[in-house]
Order: sequence, then C-alpha cells, then structure tokens
Amino acid sequence: MQYQKARPGPSPGGLGGLPAPRPLRHPLTPNRSILAEYPTPSQSAPPAAQSLIVLAGATGDLGHRIAQHLLQRGARVRALVRPGNTKPAVETLRQQGAEVVEVDFNDVGALTTACAGAACVVSAVSGLRDVIVDLQTRLLDAAVAAGVPRFIPSDYSIDFTKLPAGSNRNLDLRREFGQRLDGAPIQATSVLNGMFMDLLTGQAPVVLFKIRRVLYWGPTDQPLDFTAIADTAAFTAAAALDPTTPRYLRVAGAVATVRDLQATATAVTGRRFGLLRAGGLWLLQLMIKVTRRLAPAPDEVFPPWQGMQYLHNMFTGAPKLAPLDNARYPDIRWTPLREVLATAK
Ligand SMILES: NC(=O)c1ccc[n+]([C@@H]2O[C@H](COP(=O)([O-])OP(=O)(O)OC[C@H]3O[C@@H](n4cnc5c(N)ncnc54)[C@H](OP(=O)(O)O)[C@@H]3O)[C@@H](O)[C@H]2O)c1
Repeated sequence: MQYQKARPGPSPGGLGGLPAPRPLRHPLTPNRSILAEYPTPSQSAPPAAQSLIVLAGATGDLGHRIAQHLLQRGARVRALVRPGNTKPAVETLRQQGAEVVEVDFNDVGALTTACAGAACVVSAVSGLRDVIVDLQTRLLDAAVAAGVPRFIPSDYSIDFTKLPAGSNRNLDLRREFGQRLDGAPIQATSVLNGMFMDLLTGQAPVVLFKIRRVLYWGPTDQPLDFTAIADTAAFTAAAALDPTTPRYLRVAGAVATVRDLQATATAVTGRRFGLLRAGGLWLLQLMIKVTRRLAPAPDEVFPPWQGMQYLHNMFTGAPKLAPLDNARYPDIRWTPLREVLATAK
C-alpha cells in the first residue's frame, strides 16, 4: 500500500478533523455540559497500562511470554491467531484474560477490524518472506487503516541496521520490512536484543557442555550481546505500553566475550571449560557458502547455514548493540548468564 503523508496543521473543521470546540462562557467558570463533550486527555485515553495491545504471534515462544507480561502490567490483550489454531497456548491465553480473535492473516479488511481500538500492534511472528515481509505488511496496512498509533515488528535480534545486505538472510527480510514500516504513517519501534541467551544451552553451538569447550571463530575478545527470551518479552511488553519509545530500543541482559562464557561455564558447572578456536572468520564464511550449497533448505526458517550467518555477524562485532536501553524500565531484572548456563545439565 502507498501511504500519503498526513498534512500537518488543523483541518478547517478543527484539530485533526475533530469539530472545533465551542467557546466556553468564561475561562474561569467553564460550562460543565460543554466540557463533558470534550473529554480531557485523562478521560479520553485510558492510562497506558490499561491500553489495548493487539498481538500477532501470541501462540509462539516469545509472543506467549509478551502476552503474559502485558496482562501482568494490566493491559488488555487481543491475540490474533490463525483460524483453527488448537495449540494449548490459545486456551491458556483465554484463561488468563486475553481476548483471542481468529483472523485470516491474508485479509487486510479482517485484520483492520481486529486492530480497531489498539494503542499498539505488536508482532512476534516467525517465518520467512511470506511472514516477515508479506504478512507483516498486511498487518501494518491494517494497523494504519484502523488508526493504531504504534507498531512493534518481529525483529528481536542483533542490530541488523549495521549489517551489510546479504550477510544474513533472515535479517535482510527484517531490514526490508523496516523500510516499509519507515514509510508508513505510524510510530514504529524495533526491539533489538542480541542472541536469545537460552540458545546457549540448546541450539547455538557455542558453549559445548559435553566436551567442556567454548567454540568460537575469529578473536577471543569480541563482546557479544545476549538476552533471555523472558527478559526480551518483559521489555517488549513495557515498550508496547510506552507511547514515547524511539525507533529502536537496544537491550542486552549480558555482554560477554568467549573468555567470559568460558569463565562463567566453568564457575557454574564446577568443571573447567577450555576454548576451541574453529578458525578465522574467513573460514566460517567459506563454511556458510559450502553448507548453503549442499543443504540449502530454502523453506526452513533456521537452517544450519543461517545459524552460522548469525554467529559470523556476531563475531565480526558489526551488529554490537550500543547504546543500551536496559535502564529504561527499572522494574525489569536482567537474567545473568550464570543463571541460564546453570540450567544446562
Ligand atoms: N534473537 C534470537 O536469538 C532469536 C531466536 C529465536 C527467535 N527470534 C525471533 O523472535 C521472534 C519470535 O520467534 P519465536 O521463537 O517465538 O517463534 P515461534 O515460537 O515459532 O512462534 C511463531 C509465531 O508466529 C505465528 N505464525 C507463524 N507463521 C504464521 C502465519 N503464516 N500466519 C500467522 N501466524 C503465523 C505462529 O502461529 P501458529 O501458532 O499459528 O503457528 C506463532 O504464534 C521472531 O522474530 C524470531 O526470529 C530471535
């Protein structure tokens, strides 16, 4: 959709198309009946915490946690789910007080109705071009058509604004959607949080617990950004309820070099971890090319070569998050590395 930029300044009828208020009889003795027709800001807008937040991807790992944090903060949550979604998360959301709306994500009209009245649309969907660019564009068009003032896209990553195009397939899609978002008449905020810390005890081949090594490429002293999924969700919920957020918010629950990872893994397990240098960054780049050629898996969201692209990006230092907005919501406690690494058995 092509957007026309809103023209600044009052329209002939009054501010922003609203009818012009009738003059009061006397500035010090306002006419109560007239005041009642023109509610004060506190009457017209609910307190931020009670705002309605529309959430796409609420049945996913991150999205479900964002929903919990929004509800804990007193927000009203409308979770948009695909028709026929029978995941247990749907029932949990209902029981916790969220409004669950089944909607056809291909239908901008239906999405517009579903976005009505929201203070912010938050996306936590996961996927490739059809989701990150196409679906989110329809959701964005719907949010704009419904007059929603704010949009948080499903970014939640290292700082792709600093990465060269072509260096990370999944993050290129986010940059492409971000350009559409920047052209839309809506206030956008991306949450950038580095790598999910929880991946260090699972999918990410960095801290290798079985052989007690920290695997790395390139230098040992490159600071890397990690944030627990739960903390990313807590921060996103707070940001969704904060009408003053800037275009980007950057957070990292922990900033650690591979030497820090080694020391922390050693401390929490009580067993000595060593370092294992697989090679220089040029070798990792070569392995990405070879792996992508041999096992392209074009429909997989996170094929091995894409995970390698992510690690390559991080070890170059280019997408390092700075400055950090960790202190923006003082009630959020950042899970330290040692707590997450201690859960690995
Ligand atoms: N920084 C990191 O290290 C890191 C790691 C992992 C993920 N992430 C990011 O975090 C975000 C959320 O990821 P996640 O792990 O929570 O994902 P997830 O658990 O796979 O959940 C994905 C959500 O998107 C919805 N969805 C997917 N395709 C859809 C479609 N075509 N139409 C409607 N809904 C659709 C799913 O709905 P259904 O229930 O209908 O399937 C689900 O609610 C993504 O941006 C992801 O890239 C970041």
